[in-house]
Amino acid sequence: MNPAAASGSSSGPIARHFRAASQVLPGGVNSSTRLNRALGAPMYVARAEGSRITDITGRSFIDLCCGHGAALLGHGHPAIAGALQAAAAIGFPSVHETPRHEELARLVCAAVPSAERVRFCSSGTEATLHLIRACRAHTGRDKIIRIEGHFHGYHELIYIGGHPPAEHLPRNRAQPFIESPGIPQEFARLIVPIPHNDAGALERAVERHGRETAAVMLEPVNWNWGAIRAEPAYLQRMRELTAEAGIVLFFDEIQSAFKTRRLTAQAEYGVTPDVTTLGKSLGGGLPVSAFSGSAQIMDLFQPVGPVQHSGTFNAHPVPILAALAFVRETEKPYFYDTLEALEDHFDRGLKRIIADHRLNMIAPVAGARFSIIFGRTTPPARYEDCLCHDNRVMLRFVRECYERGVYLHDYGGGPFHHGFSVQHTTGDLDEALNAMEDALKGMKRDGAVAAA
Ligand SMILES: Cc1ncc(COP(=O)(O)O)c(C=O)c1O
Repeated sequence: MNPAAASGSSSGPIARHFRAASQVLPGGVNSSTRLNRALGAPMYVARAEGSRITDITGRSFIDLCCGHGAALLGHGHPAIAGALQAAAAIGFPSVHETPRHEELARLVCAAVPSAERVRFCSSGTEATLHLIRACRAHTGRDKIIRIEGHFHGYHELIYIGGHPPAEHLPRNRAQPFIESPGIPQEFARLIVPIPHNDAGALERAVERHGRETAAVMLEPVNWNWGAIRAEPAYLQRMRELTAEAGIVLFFDEIQSAFKTRRLTAQAEYGVTPDVTTLGKSLGGGLPVSAFSGSAQIMDLFQPVGPVQHSGTFNAHPVPILAALAFVRETEKPYFYDTLEALEDHFDRGLKRIIADHRLNMIAPVAGARFSIIFGRTTPPARYEDCLCHDNRVMLRFVRECYERGVYLHDYGGGPFHHGFSVQHTTGDLDEALNAMEDALKGMKRDGAVAAA
């Protein structure tokens, strides 16, 4: 890894900072994917404002990472700044409830069709962990049927079988791939991976494992692997099968919630699961996530029922007030009008670039986020359809965009997702699209991107 790459010289401030950070932080970062391998360093941000981030050398970038989808309000939004002041005024009391917790819970229950009750925690990873526990307690069963390509956090219960390397894929369904060393092989016995959008595979999995299965779990829009939408008939069938077999239907809407006018994918599809996780944009850029569901399942949690969920920083008032401000902002008419106009503008722009230059790539756009897949021109339907994605080309593209003042994140392989915020303007997006077109033209010229 070349820490000099991002600053252009090994003595530049970014390289110096990265070297120093690497002495005390493993790999110089606090999250594995924070190293942007296209730059050879993390993005060191000095300031984030609106649609832009400025690095520690003073260079400004149009931000097309947007906190992996958390910064749907953009950076430094006045509503969130106001919430932080309000939190300061009450003295940041952790471990206690405030009337604001109930207010936010009511808004979330109104926004999410499956939510009769909700609990708040800090990260998406925690939210799926707690909710899987409730699903198991509710059913008295331990297995989880999960969809390949979908991502539900990094913990031992579910970081298994989601993203097998191509060579492991044929075995993944019999021997689910452990996605990180350190996760005991025993946990894999409880995971049943199936391919996406394949009702036959789901039927067979339920037939074979149904009596031992606590939940069927999925991202209704699979942002974490090519922005693949579930087919409506597939979700309907999933709802029927799980209801018949007494299995909890678990929608992970950590990425999809609040990205579109209908607020959730379950509302768009008209399919109501039993339980739902939320996160990312919910906190307006601050760390809060939620898990929710029917009263019957959620009331299993102590102190009503026997299931444990507790934590010093659960539902800390700072992110709770920020989340309240965020949800109220989404209720203003401008919010989804703006996002939809930006989405349409960006989608048309990207499609035009790909068509004009006849590029062997596709960039599905939806709900203020988009994916980039190099190596195919038709929308993917499942995990294996994106294994053609050439990440070396992606890294080059990220680097070329960076040089032109546009920040795209590197997630370490796979198509993943990028996006914009309500504070981006069509002018910002045009600037980004021009940079992308220029980068792609050059990459096609020297053979890095193939012709369609
Ligand atoms: C659908 C989904 N579930 C769970 C997670 C995990 O959330 P976090 O990164 O906040 O732990 C993510 C994060 O990308 C996600 O997109």
